[in-house]
Amino acid sequence: MSQKEPIILAIESSCDDTSAAILKNESILSNLIAGQDIHRFYGGVVPELASRAHLQNILPVVDAAIEKAGVQLSDIDAVAFTKGPGLLGSLVVGTSFAKSLSLALNIPLIDVNHMHGHVLAHFIDDEEEMKVSDWVLTDGPIKKKKPKFPFICLTVSGGHTQVVLVKSHLDMEIVGATKDDAAGEAFDKAAKMLGFEYPGGPLVDKHAKDGDPLKFKFTRPKVGGYDFSFSGLKTGILYFLQKEVKTNPNFIEENLNDLCASIQFTIVDILIRQLKTVTKDLGIKEVAIAGGVSANSGLRKALQETGANKGWNVYIPRFEYCTDNAAMIAITGKFMYEQGLFADQTVTAAARVPFAR
Ligand code: KG4
Ligand code: ZN
Repeated sequence: MSQKEPIILAIESSCDDTSAAILKNESILSNLIAGQDIHRFYGGVVPELASRAHLQNILPVVDAAIEKAGVQLSDIDAVAFTKGPGLLGSLVVGTSFAKSLSLALNIPLIDVNHMHGHVLAHFIDDEEEMKVSDWVLTDGPIKKKKPKFPFICLTVSGGHTQVVLVKSHLDMEIVGATKDDAAGEAFDKAAKMLGFEYPGGPLVDKHAKDGDPLKFKFTRPKVGGYDFSFSGLKTGILYFLQKEVKTNPNFIEENLNDLCASIQFTIVDILIRQLKTVTKDLGIKEVAIAGGVSANSGLRKALQETGANKGWNVYIPRFEYCTDNAAMIAITGKFMYEQGLFADQTVTAAARVPFAR
């Protein structure tokens, strides 16, 4: 295999999705995800059930990703996997599988930080995406419009909310983060109060489309710097609903769309306000979003509108690359592969990992 176009197999198992992807250079050949429906009955991810489901899913998912990509095991140049952060039991499954494969095939092993993966998802080339637009003509072939360094990436997921200053593919720094709940948690916890199953974020989004975002007002947190806080909002929503339901037991059902729209509007507003501050202070006009919550239609629209207003170049990932996926681990692995940043067989999964390399 030529060194110019490495083929990377990546595995992601940090939470409740088992995913495998094959990447050739920066082009994705396959990206398969096996979700775990079981958790919706429990109102959140049950770690023990998640690791068991990863064990069942990992082999078929990796097999299917290789088959879909049309490559042979002998074509693969390196195995990348998520080392952390995430649920330890889940991470151990992907880590052990990747280590075994690397040993059996005698190819390099690359340990990827899940949060770097979310940020670098913006660098994946995808044929499907090419049909959609946002590609630019260069001197050579048509290329995807990718963020230029330095850029700001708002990474918003179920476990994290971070403002990341990205100086290069492998040099990034957190300049702001949540002090308590993540934005995805705020969506999911509010959704639970409204009676939705876990994860309720996408359902809030769906109902918000037919609701009035200004119908109910919720207070914004006061936090310094570029940080965030969502726990006050969660309590505010809870007390508000308890009060209203006391006088009208059908309050939630009767106002479901407006409640979803108002909650979504508040969360998005908190995120966008901090983005405006940080981009202004750092004088950066390249702005990206990443992570599961970047699938939210309210956030995508608000970012586009604010970007147009402020003269930003905005970068919004395809839905497939917002929530957890192995393609983002593969592209991060590719940049590490080029630098020879390999792990050895002593590497272990870790629930927490430092953000800086
Ligand atoms: O990045 P991700 O797949 O997993 C983590 O690393 O946490 O993010 C999952 C989070 C969940 O909280 C989910 O409710 C939220 O992303 N999410 C959304 C939407 N799609 C996923 N939240 C709001 N609107 C959406 N459309
Ligand atoms: Zn994630």
